[in-house]
This record gives sequence, structure tokens and C-alpha cells, in this order.
Amino acid sequence: MTTQQAVPRIEMTGITKAFGSVVANDSISLRVAPGEVHALLGENGAGKTTLMNILYGLYPPDSGQIRLNGDRVAIHGASEAIRLGIGMVHQHFKLVDTFTVAQNIVLGRERVGAFGILRDAQAVEAVVELSAKFGLRVDPLAVVRDVSVGTQQRVEILKALYRRADVLILDEPTAVLTPQEIDELMDIMRLLVDQGTTIILITHKLREIIAIADRCTVIRRGKVVDTVDVGSATPRSLASAMVGREVLFTVDRKTTEPGDVRLAIDGLVVRNARGLAAVNGASLSVRSGEIVGVAGVDGNGQSELVEALVGVRRVESGRILVDQTDVTGMTPKSVQAHGLASIPEDRQRRGLVLEYSIADNMVMGIHDRAPYSRGGILNEREIHRRAAGLIERFDVRPNDPEYPAGSLSGGNQQKVIIAREVGNDPNVLVAAQPTRGLDVGAIEFVHRALVEQRDRGKAVLLISLDLDEVMNLSDRIAVIYEGKIVGIFERGRVDEHHLGLLMAGGRE
Ligand SMILES: Nc1ncnc2c1ncn2[C@@H]1O[C@H](COP(=O)(O)OP(=O)(O)O)[C@@H](O)[C@H]1O
Ligand SMILES: [Mg+2]
Repeated sequence: MTTQQAVPRIEMTGITKAFGSVVANDSISLRVAPGEVHALLGENGAGKTTLMNILYGLYPPDSGQIRLNGDRVAIHGASEAIRLGIGMVHQHFKLVDTFTVAQNIVLGRERVGAFGILRDAQAVEAVVELSAKFGLRVDPLAVVRDVSVGTQQRVEILKALYRRADVLILDEPTAVLTPQEIDELMDIMRLLVDQGTTIILITHKLREIIAIADRCTVIRRGKVVDTVDVGSATPRSLASAMVGREVLFTVDRKTTEPGDVRLAIDGLVVRNARGLAAVNGASLSVRSGEIVGVAGVDGNGQSELVEALVGVRRVESGRILVDQTDVTGMTPKSVQAHGLASIPEDRQRRGLVLEYSIADNMVMGIHDRAPYSRGGILNEREIHRRAAGLIERFDVRPNDPEYPAGSLSGGNQQKVIIAREVGNDPNVLVAAQPTRGLDVGAIEFVHRALVEQRDRGKAVLLISLDLDEVMNLSDRIAVIYEGKIVGIFERGRVDEHHLGLLMAGGRE
């Protein structure tokens, strides 16, 4: 498979690309042999997507060269990349919701000169043929809006293959998939490689690299650290190459005896923006000294559940109790005053005011209390002092209370939020996707913070799309499906395939 002697299918040399003062790619070189699966590994913000956007013609590099099959090329735009055999599936799919699978696949490449119906029939035929050849099952007539995320991803892949791509760039393709869908994608990738496709796989997940990749290029802060043969790599060696230090994979957790129920959710019904019951009779409790993890596929009511818990979305029926007090329908401020803190899902929109300093963000929510203000006048010195203490304790970088939150890295933004929320010593902590988009170093930090809260007798509700995270951290694991808790298990009493089955709406 990997013939390193052969002319590389792709050779990028000395690629540099800056956005303003950020050097996203700093003289990066990458060689991908024909027919190999080449993983790109790096922390968030390392420059992986930028490098692939350059290969896909979306940005010109500031300097550097690209050779395809040994020939020097300049790739201006995605259509030229596609003509050169390169297809890319982005992190956020770019399909037309209201079109069928087949229409999306041929979009922009429809056979001309025929009537609408005939053209559609041809499209369906082409898609059936293509999906059989590459083992990508899709229903060509299904409307994209109605199909699962896994299927949408297959449609994106087919779209590239329809354009005869023999190089496929997949940007974090497994982030949105269930375990079963991940297994299927791995099978699909193997089939594609058997048919001669070259794959560049961007992922954070070391296990996937070990399972599928031939070689792996590690990028750190815009530079290539190393390219390794995956056969001789371990998750530990890859992780430390990625972050530049040793990484611990397991969080130390004391065995604790959970105490009284601190958070009780009882028959909760919450409507989403479209008026549908996104949370549809969910019941769940979290005790002192335990982490309860909620596993589920995106869009099964997780966001609405969290919004209802923190008081920003109306509860239609059912109750929420914090330490026996009914907080249903209270304002976010009162909920917080009753001891419920939260790490919000969207840290840029809900968690932080990006234009404000770290110090101002850290005091948000309690800025009207003493000693931070008196008689309506803010006490800047106290605010600064509090921030300096939290920055130290939570290792926020840079350690400057006046630094604007919007200029921090994702990991440090998350630290500011956690510092603020945990800094008030809440009894209940609701953590929604607390590590989404963070790198392993920052993830390790967040996980330790959650376990520390648990060990101190707090109740932690963890809502995450990352099943590994839920399984690693939780004392009990609940599965949410279509707004209901469809199963709840003690730690270690359930495997990921069973959870995956429930997450997909299967029966026990
Ligand atoms: N279009 C853009 N404009 C400004 N900055 C960008 C743009 N795209 C990426 N960046 C910055 O470049 C760096 C690398 O980003 P990216 O390539 O997306 O990293 P990765 O995919 O490894 O997470 C980050 O600091 C990011 O904020
Ligand atoms: Mg990226």
C-alpha cells in the first residue's frame, strides 16, 4: 500500500500562510503517497484545516509549492482542485437540505440537454452505480433534511467521488458520528483505498489513526513536528508529539459514595424554536459526589435540556429541583443563586463576552454583589484581584486579567468560564459539551476540573456528544433519544455498542 519510493500523489513543500499576525501554516511540508491513508494530527488551531483548504484551492499560500504526481501546480479554487482529482468533505457539510440525495450528489454537474425528469432519473442511476462501487449505502431519493448525519456525510463523499476525486480529504469526519457510524466510515475508507483512493484524514482521535492510517503527520502551532509510520506509534507517543509533553489519559478518580440527590429532573417537557417537544418527558437525578453523563446523538434534546436547566428556555411541564428547591421557571440569575452553575455549549455566544477582558468575564453574574460593586459602582480593584487569583488557580494563559477574552485560544476561553462558574462554589454543575473543539491538553484540564467537583461532593451533569468522554468520566451514564432518557447504567456495566444502539433509537 504505502510505496514511499513512488512519486507522491501529493507533495506540499514549505507552505506558509498567515492570517494577519497569526501564522496558521509555517513552512509546512507534507508528502502523501498514492493509495495511502495519511492522518493529519494536531491540537485545535494547529493549522490542519488551513493546510487542506490550501490544497483544495480555497486559499492561495503566501509561499510554498504544491506538486501532484510530481507536477508543479497552482490550485485556484475548488473546481480546479476537483479537476485535479482532489475532493474535500468539510467539518460542516455543505448540502442543500431540501434536495434529494441524488440531486445533491450531481449538483453543478447535471447532464445538460435533457428535461428535468430525465435528468433526475440519470442522476439516480449514476448514484446507484457509484454507491454500489464504493460500498456507500444511500437512498438516492431521500431528501437530505430527513437523513441522518452519517448519511449526509456519505452523500458528501459520494459527491466528491462523482466528480472523480481520487484524493479525498476528510476534515474531522467522526466528530459527529455514533460508534456504529464510525465503524461504517472506517469500512468505507478501507474500501475506497482498495479502489485506489488516497485519503487525508484530519482527526483528534488517536484511536482512529491507529486503526486506519498508514502514516501520520503531526502539526503543532503551524509547524510539522514529525511524520511517523503509524505501525510503530502508540496513542501515547502520538499525543505527546501533538502537545509537546506527556499526556495522562486517565483522570484519577477516588471511589466515592454518592450522597443525596442535588439535581432532580422530573418529567421535563421543553419545546425547541420550532415548537416541537425537543425534551419530551425526561427524568434524571444527579447525587452529591457523582458525575452523571448524558450520551446521545446531536439534536436529541440535549441543548434544550441544558437551556431549560439554566433558565434560558421555558419549561412546558415537569420540574427541576436543585437541593430540593423547585427552580422551574426561575430566571437564570435565580437558578444560579440557588447553586446551579453551568459550562455552556457555545462558549463564544453564551459563555463569554469576547470584547470584555478576562477579569470582566470572570465577574459576570456576580458583578452586582459585594465586594465587586457597592452602590452600583464597580470595584475594579476587587474584580482584578479575583481574576488574578482564578487565573493562577486555573492556569489561564496569558496570565493577564486585562487581556481580551476574544483573543484567547479555545482552551483558555474554556478555562475562564470554568474558573468563573466553579469559582462561585456551586452545588450543581451542568457541563454541556465542555471539551468540544479543545485539544488534548485542555481536555485533560477540563476533565480534572469536573472530577474535582465530584470529589468535593458536588453533583455534575455532563452532556456530551463524545461517547468516550461520557464513558471515561461518568459514574452513571444516561442515554437521551428524542428528548427522553431511554436508559441509565452504572459505570462499567455497559459497553459502547450497547450505548450506540440506544443512541440510535434501537431497543435493548
Ligand atoms: N479565515 C481565517 N481568518 C483568520 N484566521 C484564521 C482563518 N482560518 C484559520 N485561522 C486561524 O489559523 C489558525 C489555524 O486554524 P485551523 O487551520 O483552522 O486549525 P485546525 O484545523 O488545526 O484546528 C488558528 O489560529 C485560526 O484561528
Ligand atoms: Mg480544523
